[in-house]
Amino acid sequence: VIENIGIRKILDSRGNATVEIDITTGNGFGRAAAPSGASTGAMEVVAFPEEGIDSVIGTFNERVKGDLVGVSADETVLIDDILKEIDGTDNLSSLGGNVTVAISLAAAKAAASSFNMPLYQFLGGNLKNEIPYPLGNMINGGAHAGKNAPDIQEFLVVPVGAKNITEAVFANSSVHKKIGELIKVKDGQFTGGKGDEGGWAPNLSNYEALEIQSRACEEISDETGIKVRPSLDLAPSELWDGSKYIYGREGVNRDTGEQIDFVEEIIDTYKMFFVEDPLREGDFDGFSQLTKRVGDGCIICGDDIFVTNAEILSRGIEKKAANAIIIKPNQIGTLSGTYQTVKLAKDNNYIPVVSHRSGETTDETIAHLAVAFGAPLIKTGAIGGERIAKLNELIRIQEEMPSSVMAKLK
Ligand code: PGA
Ligand code: ZN
Repeated sequence: VIENIGIRKILDSRGNATVEIDITTGNGFGRAAAPSGASTGAMEVVAFPEEGIDSVIGTFNERVKGDLVGVSADETVLIDDILKEIDGTDNLSSLGGNVTVAISLAAAKAAASSFNMPLYQFLGGNLKNEIPYPLGNMINGGAHAGKNAPDIQEFLVVPVGAKNITEAVFANSSVHKKIGELIKVKDGQFTGGKGDEGGWAPNLSNYEALEIQSRACEEISDETGIKVRPSLDLAPSELWDGSKYIYGREGVNRDTGEQIDFVEEIIDTYKMFFVEDPLREGDFDGFSQLTKRVGDGCIICGDDIFVTNAEILSRGIEKKAANAIIIKPNQIGTLSGTYQTVKLAKDNNYIPVVSHRSGETTDETIAHLAVAFGAPLIKTGAIGGERIAKLNELIRIQEEMPSSVMAKLK
């Protein structure tokens, strides 16, 4: 039973404010913080109410705290319903989805702690003891980097040949180092700057970055014997001007048909393992066309288009828009809402990919969610304190589960 619940304002990795929640039960304790996006989907719940984060703390003490004290911490659905009722809006704009999600996750963590269990075990959906493969972030562009970086937001890699999570995260960090070296060879002026998710932020065109990404994957695969495959998140809602995609770095515009051809060509040329948001949010038809063309050989994943929302995902399923979905708890604002979307995805052969946000904290909860949900992939960067918090937690989780194996990717 929840005995006490507190809120505080803390820093995120961009230096912005976010919230952290502490929940105490008779014999347990749970703490969770919420992250923030820079390239957020339009249909996400609202992270914080308009009045700002300081107002949230007052609201929490006046309107939320009293209703939760006395509730059993393991009643996730009840807690989420109470939060939604107090909020009273469709998009959680009154309390803020970051506040509700932090409460929802902290309560589950407090419940797990009361039962003396790690969170992944308390949530316990994954009876196979499978560990997700980490999608590591190598090069940042778009909304996550400065002006001369590529337009494509994220150049990622997956160490598909790794036999355990330790091999996997170190393979990713080796690729990250290798890419840094290759960028310096290409650009003698490179200062070593990084973007919001810890990938390099170089002065490179999209194709130059693709070439370096691909070469680094090959070299590290050869050196380590662990096969590493390239992947992307284009986040092209950020490039869309209402009628075309503006690739400012290249000085090229692409209409929807040209964008589909462009992505298909990249997938074929570079043997992409995973491509997230190849088209802007809302373009279910464009997604369907691309998935039809390349979905057998490549994971086509929706982030901004689905925003972890089961109702929106069901439209995607109907239209065969993709074959994977990014799962970001703060896009939907509750743990039960997150689980509902994961379940719908899995029931329809959509791969759930649990993900960080560009503005993160050192909270490690998503590592547990990925394991509990049986997600075969987790996207949480490759280096940087707020990213390694999750990766190192996965190393600990694998150690705790001696019978665990890496997830099956396809
Ligand atoms: P965001 O971006 O956290 O800035 O929304 C991450 C992503 O698009 O995957
Ligand atoms: Zn994305």
